[in-house]
Amino acid sequence: MKKLMYVLASSLLLAAGLTTADDHSNGKSPIDATYSAECGSCHVPYPTRLLSANEWQKITSRLDKHFGVDASVDVATLKKLDQYLMGNSASTDRTTATGDKLPRITESRWFIHEHSEVAPQVWKRPNVKSPSNCSACHQNMNLRRAY
Ligand code: HEC
Ligand code: HEC
Repeated sequence: MKKLMYVLASSLLLAAGLTTADDHSNGKSPIDATYSAECGSCHVPYPTRLLSANEWQKITSRLDKHFGVDASVDVATLKKLDQYLMGNSASTDRTTATGDKLPRITESRWFIHEHSEVAPQVWKRPNVKSPSNCSACHQNMNLRRAY
């Protein structure tokens, strides 16, 4: 029964909104326009506090080889993105990615823990496909929150 609840939860509770887009109560800076435009076109602009400065750096330093796609930006844009990410990241590493492997929020201990109750078949739904596809389940995700 618990499993079923979570299957339902993924389509219902998220429609109700886990968080609301207009919640300013935590006082964190609003999402940066450059970040949102450059890093929110293929997927949601991921909440930046889910990875450390070091982890974001690994991602922005290799945008030409970004999870199988080319997500390169010009030098000036890269500088802006780095500044924003450095100032709005987690204080310690969230993943154990080493070497050439790019860090993933979805492989962080935090993510796995938060999503441990999501039934395996939910992840496999055609409209979900990948755990990285936050917006399949989270509508109006409040990206300003410091998770
Ligand atoms: C051209 C498309 C594209 C652009 C632009 C893009 N990404 Fe991505 N990104 C992807 C793809 C594809 C994946 C892999 C998604 C998957 O595995 O389902 C990904 C995955 C990620 C992940 C890992 C998600 C996880 O699984 O936890 C992070 C973090 C990320 N991108 C950050 C960024 C940042 C920062 C930028 C802006 C500099 C950016 N992306 C721009 C296509 C893009
Ligand atoms: C298959 C659907 C699904 C996907 C995809 C998914 N989530 Fe979740 N997420 C859930 C469910 C269900 C919960 C549990 C809600 C609860 O326990 O109240 C949850 C919990 C959370 C929470 C904790 C609850 C809260 O509001 O603070 C956060 C934050 C979160 N997810 C962020 C993300 C991010 C970021 C991504 C993408 C990298 C993502 N989720 C991808 C379904 C999903």
